[in-house]
Amino acid sequence: MKFFIDTANLDQIKEAHDLGILDGVTTNPSLMAKEGIKGHDAVMNHYKTICEIVDGDVSAEVTTTDFKSMVEEGQKLAKIHNNIVVKVPMIHDGVKAMKWFTDNGIPTNCTLVFSAGQAILAAKAGAKYVSPFIGRIDDSCWEGIDLIYQIRQIYNVQGYDTQILAASIRNSNHIVKCAEGGADVVTSPLEPMLGLLKHPLTDIGLAKFMDDAKKFA
Ligand code: G3P
Repeated sequence: MKFFIDTANLDQIKEAHDLGILDGVTTNPSLMAKEGIKGHDAVMNHYKTICEIVDGDVSAEVTTTDFKSMVEEGQKLAKIHNNIVVKVPMIHDGVKAMKWFTDNGIPTNCTLVFSAGQAILAAKAGAKYVSPFIGRIDDSCWEGIDLIYQIRQIYNVQGYDTQILAASIRNSNHIVKCAEGGADVVTSPLEPMLGLLKHPLTDIGLAKFMDDAKKFA
């Protein structure tokens, strides 16, 4: 399973990259706004900077919702860097735009996916990635992880090669469950990623080893 970081924060991207386990980055308009990035040029430059830090796919989301505008915007985003993946919402014109991007060699990430039916449409449109939002499903009293299992089953049975990119990760256990359920990629904020490191028995065991090491130093 690949690890992407779900942020537009450059320090956090660098920290995950320095750990040596980062395969890519996903962003969205909310994450860009959170970093105070304003204006067309600043947004384009920010994506370019991210692509220079991480040698892997970087999802850049369109901010329009009609076919013509999404295609125009996606083409501009794709020109920033070879690793840009155009993120397109799962809406009527979004499906059309994804098919257009597929036919024209531009990789896409289908975002805002909350059902298996939407994941089938994303695969049919040739999306490179489909992004089920598991945390937001949990927020609405459903089991987000179940959707990962269901999409995995459908994609296996049908032979779709769209990669399942589990998004809206809220905790470290989500990451573990996504790995178990067959996600190809998980995109997570930094904290749940670093949370995978933690176990109290590791800390206790290390303290004892360090203590004993002093005895023969
Ligand atoms: O990649 C989509 C993700 O950013 C959504 O996460 O926490 O806003 O539901 P969240």
